[in-house]
Amino acid sequence: MATVEASLHAPNWLLHCRPGMESATAAEMEERARAQGILGTYAIAQANSAYLRLCQPDPDQARAMVEQAPTGHIFARQLIHEHCWMEGLPQRDRLSPILAALPRHQGFEGIQLSAPDSNEGKALSRFLKGFGRALRQGAEQQGIDLALPGAPRLHLFFPDSNRVSIGFNQDPASPPGGIRRLRMPGQAPSRSTLKLEEALLTLLSEAERNRWLQPGLRAVDLGAAPGGWSWQMVRRHIQVTAVDNGPMAPSLMDSGLVEHVRADGFTWRPPRAVDWLLCDMVDKPGRVAARMQEWLGQSWTRHAVFNLKLPMKRPWPIVRNLLWGLESALAESRPSLELRARQLYHDREEITVLAVDPDGPGARK
Ligand SMILES: C[S@@+](CC[C@H](N)C(=O)[O-])C[C@H]1O[C@@H](n2cnc3c(N)ncnc32)[C@H](O)[C@@H]1O
Repeated sequence: MATVEASLHAPNWLLHCRPGMESATAAEMEERARAQGILGTYAIAQANSAYLRLCQPDPDQARAMVEQAPTGHIFARQLIHEHCWMEGLPQRDRLSPILAALPRHQGFEGIQLSAPDSNEGKALSRFLKGFGRALRQGAEQQGIDLALPGAPRLHLFFPDSNRVSIGFNQDPASPPGGIRRLRMPGQAPSRSTLKLEEALLTLLSEAERNRWLQPGLRAVDLGAAPGGWSWQMVRRHIQVTAVDNGPMAPSLMDSGLVEHVRADGFTWRPPRAVDWLLCDMVDKPGRVAARMQEWLGQSWTRHAVFNLKLPMKRPWPIVRNLLWGLESALAESRPSLELRARQLYHDREEITVLAVDPDGPGARK
């Protein structure tokens, strides 16, 4: 008979990330922990597994790590505060050892189950559904309240069907695995539209979206063709100047809200300042960052969204240096500007950065 090994330990973090980005995620999170004065944090990661565990052997430091939960992370899609890790779950009855290992709480506000964003993880989707049902039933029979408002949200992560990490979801609003699946809008000219939609949903709060994406605002879209990003503005009745030598989708031009300028997005200058700059030109990340610095530093735009292509090797230090460089270069001219960056589900070898300025040029006071 298989033996179940359960390890209860000082709190760890379990992180979901894009497959292939495990070492970039580890490098980022280890550095963030060091910057918080939490020393000795290390990651256990396997290439292309789409998850990693961040461990802290010292209980005091581990507590500090939970109290000051990491924020602003770029490569991790979801953070789970791990309570226990179990291996060797018996195929005939995985439920009993898991129920016995649940953290002793008055109750939980819901359960989320996840698997890695890898081929192995995808093969677990039926198992997760069935196990989720059994777990809910089993918990109910044991009198465990799974709908207790304000209680932590229980999270079970299965790297495969023999192992589980039981923990708490750090951000209760985040979808399983941090993957925000979006439906492709029928009228949008390209799939890239999903990238911008996810960025606006993930990196802005609802209040910010309502305040900063109002009808009547103006945007410039550099590298706009065929128009998936511009479409996200047009659907909000925002006027767009689309800069690209390539053709824009006729359906988008019919909206009457888009002006197409055939020009080089690295040299074109706007005749007047706008509310949003969008930039999806595929180029070296340093070149794009320099262009964003020019636009924001000259106050040609209040907010910006742009992509940075990731280099094959050591993406974390390069991304960190570019964002840090941009932030310091703009600190004086744009003191209220805030950079938010994330590798989104719809991003590939890139990250999306949002630069928002609550008190920037054009802000209605
Ligand atoms: C990834 S596509 C943009 C897709 C677009 N965001 C959408 O949602 O449909 C990149 C675009 O950048 C344009 N591009 C590349 N370099 C450019 C430059 N220097 N100036 C203007 N456009 C450029 C290309 O013509 C291409 O249409």
